[in-house]
Amino acid sequence: MEVQFLKSAFKESQYPPPELPEIAFAGRSNVGKSSLINTVVNRKKLARTSATPGRTQAINFFQLGNDMLLVDLPGYGFARVPNKVRNAWRNMVETYLYKRETLRGVIVILDIRRDPAAGDMDLLHWLHHYGVPPIVVLTKADKVSRQEARKRHGIITKVLKEKGLSQQDGAIPYEAIMFSARTRLGREEVLSRMKTLADLNPTAPPEQHSL
Ligand code: GTP
Ligand code: MG
Repeated sequence: MEVQFLKSAFKESQYPPPELPEIAFAGRSNVGKSSLINTVVNRKKLARTSATPGRTQAINFFQLGNDMLLVDLPGYGFARVPNKVRNAWRNMVETYLYKRETLRGVIVILDIRRDPAAGDMDLLHWLHHYGVPPIVVLTKADKVSRQEARKRHGIITKVLKEKGLSQQDGAIPYEAIMFSARTRLGREEVLSRMKTLADLNPTAPPEQHSL
């Protein structure tokens, strides 16, 4: 799978031309967004990862073959930055999500060990409101036992359901995907749903194309 870094953008005028379907990756700072992208595209160091939260500060665009663009968004919820910086990030991400006409879906990445935080719920409500389909991915599944992972999957699914965030007009399967960048658990499923949202998945049932 051929993949290349296109560019970093801080504002709209710096985005690449809106010519291909696009899938963005969002989540708390340090949750594993960049690692997920690297795993999905089979590259170790395409998107920069770091043990220090706040590594990805710009919107980074990557191109996957001639099929779609992948967008690594800066994380939210990182406490140790001044308000001014936090507002600038928020503004940058919301502008992107709201304005990007080729955006087909957002992979919302949650840590399987934690309950969704306020920032996560804000993001999901926001996507719901603007009709951007989410794909919820529960990452770092390797950090807990399989039994615990299943239990956490159930709890988080229930939380999302209770908040009315578990249905996307029946168009896409809504189960959260268990994932690990370390063991690559869930990689195929994430890729397959990305392709479905980008309308590139030939094996998807017909109703999944009606986005
Ligand atoms: P920011 O760009 O700073 O917001 O972070 P990010 O969400 O892009 O996270 P990143 O991919 O940089 O990963 C953060 C840390 O978590 C790194 O130390 C990763 O190695 C680790 N990590 C990410 N995914 C996994 C995973 O599935 N399992 C384990 N064990 N560690 C992970
Ligand atoms: Mg990152």
